[in-house]
Amino acid sequence: MAKALQLSEVKGELRLASVTKPTPTGTQILVEHVAVAQNPIDWKQQEMGFYINSFPYVLGFDVAGIVADVGPDVTKFQKGDRVVVTTEFLEPTKHIDGAFQTHSIHTEDYASKIPENISFEEASSIPLALFTAACGMYGHSLLPDTNNGTEHKDEWYLVWAAATSVGAYAVQLARLLGFRVVATASPHSFEYVKSLGAEVVFDYRDEQIIEKIRELTGGKLQHAFQAFVVTEATAKIGKAMSTEGGEVAMVDPRFSEFGVVPENVKLYPFNAFDVYNVSRIHILTYLANTSFVWSNQEIIRKT
Ligand SMILES: NC(=O)c1ccc[n+]([C@@H]2O[C@H](COP(=O)([O-])OP(=O)(O)OC[C@H]3O[C@@H](n4cnc5c(N)ncnc54)[C@H](OP(=O)(O)O)[C@@H]3O)[C@@H](O)[C@H]2O)c1
Repeated sequence: MAKALQLSEVKGELRLASVTKPTPTGTQILVEHVAVAQNPIDWKQQEMGFYINSFPYVLGFDVAGIVADVGPDVTKFQKGDRVVVTTEFLEPTKHIDGAFQTHSIHTEDYASKIPENISFEEASSIPLALFTAACGMYGHSLLPDTNNGTEHKDEWYLVWAAATSVGAYAVQLARLLGFRVVATASPHSFEYVKSLGAEVVFDYRDEQIIEKIRELTGGKLQHAFQAFVVTEATAKIGKAMSTEGGEVAMVDPRFSEFGVVPENVKLYPFNAFDVYNVSRIHILTYLANTSFVWSNQEIIRKT
């Protein structure tokens, strides 16, 4: 038997239930969970019910664990492999692939082996935050067609709220594209954000932040990623950008109607779930060929 934390209605409580351990078929793998991550979307789904197709529903997107069984057509994994895996988002399978249970079923394409030097806990924190950052950055004009680290080398990239999980990956992805990174965070996170590759970090509460960013970037900032969306912050980002315009990727799709920035600053409120499935394999392949790092450790080497 397996155990699952089930949600049986919107705004309902999570209840621990005994469930039958699922059997993988085709290219599916059964993962025994060791560590799972929590994300803001978990409570938002519980409270608002979006993306829930049926009940009982199992919340959670990020799983790290051990392959406990494989379907007959699986080619990349075998029993005992350490894997990190994401749920299949909008597909109606959350009762078997949700993270908040002891076992889950996934198509093998959604899993990657965990390198030896990464713990289950560290690995579980990767998928949703990384894909969100990658979707926001690569989902429109910043496709990583080349990665020689030079194509944006004299340009600045602003990551607002860089101490969020999503922002931490956005900093690294911007560096991979060759940008110089200016970031915002609370002072207690300055050193952490710098360790990820940001050259300069400002407090997002600083009254002078617009002037400071404009001075640092010479008024030429054209790319920004807002990893925590509040309207006043979007307005500040708009004012910090070049008078020639630019683009701001925003992690909250609900803010599309807010005309708070100059006309030539384009807002890209995006939803990782909308672009995830089409860009996922491209992103993983791309990252597998880079020196992407997290906490000074290599995290993505797709095997
Ligand atoms: N659109 C999508 O598809 C998508 C996908 C995933 C996540 N999201 C959203 O992205 C956001 C970040 O998610 P996450 O999992 O990365 O969050 P997280 O890791 O839980 O972020 C925690 C950090 O948020 C920062 N923060 C809190 N209030 C802030 C504010 N008013 N301004 C700036 N930063 C603030 C704090 O940084 P300091 O310590 O520096 O203050 C805190 O350490 C959430 O709103 C989440 O819902 C969207």
